[in-house]
Parts: sequence; structure tokens; C-alpha cells
Amino acid sequence: MINKTLLKKLAKEHGTPLFVIDHDQLRKNLAEFNRWLPKVQPYYAVKANSNPEIIRTLYRAGASFDVASFPEFMLVHENIKDLPEKERQDFIWDKIIYSHPIKANDTLQALDQYKPLVTYDNYEEIKKVKKHAPNVGMLLRLRVPNTGAMVELSSKFGAEPGEAVDLIEASEKAGITVEGLSFHVGSQTTNFQNYVQALELAAGIFKEARLRGFTKMNQLDIGGGFPAPYDANVLPLKELAKILNHEIARLFPKDVAIIAEPGRYMVATACTSIAEVIGKGHRDGKRCYYINDGIYHTYSGVLFDHCHYPIRSFKKGPTEICSVFGPTCDALDTISMAEELPELNLGDLVYSENMGAYTHASSTYFNGFPPAKVAHLNL
Ligand SMILES: Cc1ncc(COP(=O)(O)O)c(C=O)c1O
Repeated sequence: MINKTLLKKLAKEHGTPLFVIDHDQLRKNLAEFNRWLPKVQPYYAVKANSNPEIIRTLYRAGASFDVASFPEFMLVHENIKDLPEKERQDFIWDKIIYSHPIKANDTLQALDQYKPLVTYDNYEEIKKVKKHAPNVGMLLRLRVPNTGAMVELSSKFGAEPGEAVDLIEASEKAGITVEGLSFHVGSQTTNFQNYVQALELAAGIFKEARLRGFTKMNQLDIGGGFPAPYDANVLPLKELAKILNHEIARLFPKDVAIIAEPGRYMVATACTSIAEVIGKGHRDGKRCYYINDGIYHTYSGVLFDHCHYPIRSFKKGPTEICSVFGPTCDALDTISMAEELPELNLGDLVYSENMGAYTHASSTYFNGFPPAKVAHLNL
């Protein structure tokens, strides 16, 4: 558990900006997922935070992995490279999915020797896979409603349900076995109806495919989207799990293995960032603070992930609405125009919780400022 005293101690020890990863919380999140969804195999979506120590902790705790690039695949592979050949191959087949539906030819060539399961959602991809990675297995990614999700994905990925069985047939004809279906309801999905509708769609396609003779499909990948508790309105996983467990049991035969790709849920609550006030002023009648972490760095999720991370102070006292800016010489580097903070001085520390997902992962070196240093707790 990260408390304020520990955060201050870590900042003193390592300097700021600092990104703190609590590995006990990672293990706890995985255990919670397994507890509420005991029949769903969680594949941690590495893109949410590809820190190698996070991957190692989750690997040791028994997680499977969703990767979406060859470098991410190799980050996971690092943990299994010394396993005996058969065990390693079984791990890849049973516990890694390459979930990016669009893969460059050289990525496919690099992946082929590892024979993983990959996703696809169009005819061109079948041609590419046949030519460059004939040894992989396939899951067809479906386009499903992403209504109300914080991050929408259906405008870019997923086959229309109406052409799904034709795409399965085309892949089988090309000699690439389709093992099942996948979908993603959008990241940080608090509208649980998205899952209900996606499961209905997928069940219909399973039925139609089986009727048309494609009887080998035995996997359903329900993707990510499991919401992190950014605010009190987000229902706990237990509530979503009740719906999922009920619908899965109702709609799918027992021989269909259910897997999921939680990214945000696994890491968001495990990380906290700490920064320092490096400048202070008044603009447009408001007090404003400049801190040494920002939009091009750990707060990149404000822009890329449409997420708000409240800035907290270690100080008590009357608060006022202020602006908080990042360190770069660019006005886009605005973390918030309305944070409620007590009066801070230069050198004071501030922190943000629930920073694990889509933050440090998309940090840049823009303007010469490197990403925040990383500190590990309970490694
Ligand atoms: C294919 C795929 N799987 C899993 C994830 C992880 O989703 P989340 O972080 O919402 O759980 C993403 C996120 O973009 C994704 O694109």
C-alpha cells in the first residue's frame, strides 16, 4: 500500500519526476480478476504499461499476455526464453495472443517461427498471413459497439458481423485455421451493455459458423475495457463479472474457452506519480503551477487516453482552483486548467494516483526532458 510518507521518502531517495510501481497491487489486481471471473483466462495487455518488471511480476503470478507489436512479444518472451522447447512453445500457444489485427509483413515474418495466435479482421490480412506467417493460428476480431467507452476502438478495428463467417471461410480456405473470435468493447467501459451486446453478436456468429461447417472454433476473446476505479461512479469488477459470468454461461457451450485482455484494470491502480513544483505564477486571474512532469511525459494519458488524473498535494489548508502546467516550452503541455489545490511553494511535491495505464507507456523525450524515473515497491 503506497502511503504519503512513503511517497515523500521515495521522492527524496530517487528525485522527481518519479513513477512508483507497487507490485503487490499488481498481484492483487490479477487475483481479483481471477476471483470474480474464474472461468476467464486473463491475458495482460502489455501496451497499457510495458515496464519489464511489471511483465515479470505478472508472469510469475501466472498471467497470460496480450501483445500488439513484435517488441512487446519479445518483452514477454524474455521471461520464457530459457524454458525447455516444448514448454516454451506451449506457453506461446496457450498464454500469448498477438492482438493487433493489422500486422506488417516483416512483423509476420518475425512472428511465424514462434507460431502464436494472432487476430485479423479483413481479407488482405489473410493473404499476408498465408504468405508470411503460415504457421500462426487466427482469431477473427469483430466490430462491436463501444458506446460510452472512454477510448473508442471500433472505428479502427473489427470485421462487420455480417461478413464474419465469410472471413472465417476465407481464412480456412487459405489453410489458416480460425480458432475463434475476439472483440474489444472500448477502453474504460462503464457501460456494461457493450459487453452484453458483444457477447450476443459473438454467440450468433459462433452458431452460424458451426452451421456452415466451421466446427473447430473453440475460443472467445472478450478483450479489454474492464474499468479502473478512477472515480466513485465506476462500479467494481464484481458487478461487471456477475453480468459476464451469467451471459457467457447462457450463450456459449462449455467447450468454448473464454479469454480476456485486461490492460488498464491490471495496472492503473498499481502506480503513482510524484512531481515537484518548479514554477509559479498568476494567469487570467488564476494561480498557476509549473511542475516537472506533464503531457509529453507521465500525464500523456490526458491527451491520448482522454483521462483526468487529479493532482494531489501533501499540504493541507484552504484550497483554490488553479492551473497546472508541465515542464516543456509548449502550451499544449497543460495538465489541467482546474485543479483544487492549497497554496504551494517552489520545491513542494504533488502526486497523482491510479497512473499505471497508458501514461508512462506513452511518455516521450520531447523538449529534452526524459520520462520519469521508475521506482519499484514490493518487487
Ligand atoms: C486489442 C486490445 N486488447 C486489449 C487492450 C487493453 O484494453 P484495456 O486497457 O481497456 O483493458 C487494448 C487497448 O487498446 C486493445 O487494443
